[in-house]
Amino acid sequence: MVLRGWGVRVIAMGLVGCFWLVGGPQARPAQAQQNKYTGAASCSASNCHGSTKPKADFPKLDESVQWAKKDRHAQAYATLLNEKLKSGVSPSKIAKGLNLAKAEASERCLTCHAVNVPVALRGPKFDVTEGVHCDGCHGPAEKWLEPHAEKGWTHEQSVKVGMYDTKNLLLRAEKCVSCHLQIDTDMVAAGHPEPLTIELDTFSENMPPHWATKGAWTRTRIWGLGQVISLREAAKQVGARAKANASAKLMDEALSKVRGHFVIAKHLLAVTAPPVATGLGQDVAALNDAVAKGDKATAQTLAAKISTAAAQEAPKIATRDFDQATTQRLIKSVAGDADAIGAAGIKAAELAAMSLDRLSSTYFKGINAKADKSVSDALDAMFGAVEDPAKYDAKEFVAQVKAFDKSFK
Ligand code: HEC
Ligand code: HEC
Ligand code: HEC
Repeated sequence: MVLRGWGVRVIAMGLVGCFWLVGGPQARPAQAQQNKYTGAASCSASNCHGSTKPKADFPKLDESVQWAKKDRHAQAYATLLNEKLKSGVSPSKIAKGLNLAKAEASERCLTCHAVNVPVALRGPKFDVTEGVHCDGCHGPAEKWLEPHAEKGWTHEQSVKVGMYDTKNLLLRAEKCVSCHLQIDTDMVAAGHPEPLTIELDTFSENMPPHWATKGAWTRTRIWGLGQVISLREAAKQVGARAKANASAKLMDEALSKVRGHFVIAKHLLAVTAPPVATGLGQDVAALNDAVAKGDKATAQTLAAKISTAAAQEAPKIATRDFDQATTQRLIKSVAGDADAIGAAGIKAAELAAMSLDRLSSTYFKGINAKADKSVSDALDAMFGAVEDPAKYDAKEFVAQVKAFDKSFK
């Protein structure tokens, strides 16, 4: 199936709502905090990761080339200076709205649009204008840069001396989420696009990945992990807003995300942990009631309960084996729930489109078959339906999910 590379872009911009920063994108393990960040230039030599003749197998050693050419992360810093973005978003306007002299010099922007580590931790080749480069995801390379190229040196050895373990799916998801889920409310008010809530497999595919995903059904696991982590974050947001005594509008917005995530995540949990799915269903319903009544104390308690339950499932899903039958069951279960998805709002619709797209792509690849045209047509129509939130029509979306369900055998 053709990858919907535009899926993320399309829906990223249209959402209204607010996030704020909890923790910090550059959170690092204690060990790594002493080590220096060496910069993209330290990886990009042609005999290292900048090969112009990529190997057939991964690692292809052309990661630096792929990153520079195709990965939006390479443009993350440049974006802060670009007044001609296709989206029409103006970084200087955002900065002005926040009383920042210059976006490209502000900690508030660099924290996600660059690898903004303290000057003392920047190696000789480090250059903040490189945006979100290798060190941003793989950690400070000072101690492993040279040895990791030697024969016999293992990934585990690198991790011991400061490499961030992106092979660990849970850690990988946390890394992506650290920049992609939460943004300060005042930034959104100043015009920053609302970050798309993560559907981890779609996000990974859209980067595009410079790695191979091994195992036919690993992608089902990545999808599932993204579901529970997003539910966790969405619930945290409701809790934080309740605590801050946010307006009814902000509470509703945050709540709609919990609803949207749960209406998808419940299908996963029904397979992996049925009692948790049931319990969460009751808690989400109770949270709806509490928010409707303006009972912020109860909302806070329930939000904490939901986020804790979702957090407890994450490591289990990160290590669980999925297979063909489960993937198929998940697809049918989500697609069979069209009315509930339609009732849960556009957030749920976006997540449903991305989920059905990625899961069915995984499924057909896994069984070495091609999707029927009717399946891809229904997916196209689903993405089309959420493209412009102002024109979103739940009935139309529900009809497309039903068409998908009918076509997917
Ligand atoms: C240090 C912060 C940071 C981390 C960590 C991070 N990202 Fe990003 N990502 C960004 C920023 C900022 C942008 C926007 C870049 C731009 O367009 O200027 C972005 C853009 C993207 C895009 C393109 C989105 C679009 O709308 O076109 C994808 C896809 C993406 N990231 C996926 C990932 C994945 C997958 C991970 C984890 C493996 C990840 N990101 C980790 C900050 C980060
Ligand atoms: C919490 C992380 C985070 C922070 C902080 C942040 N950004 Fe972003 N920014 C992103 C991500 C992620 C995207 C890409 C949107 C998406 O795909 O979700 C983005 C997108 C943008 C875009 C739109 C890019 C386009 O192609 O339309 C602009 C402009 C921008 N950011 C400017 C800023 C400015 C200015 C600041 C500081 C005031 C800032 N950002 C702070 C994460 C962040
Ligand atoms: C936005 C996050 C992100 C950025 C930026 C990034 N990577 Fe990665 N990289 C990943 C993830 C996730 C994986 C997959 C897990 C793994 O194999 O470690 C990965 C895997 C790799 C691999 C292993 C590939 C394999 O199949 O074994 C190499 C090599 C690599 N990256 C090099 C680089 C280099 C060099 C840069 C900078 C030019 C870079 N990465 C930038 C996230 C990132």
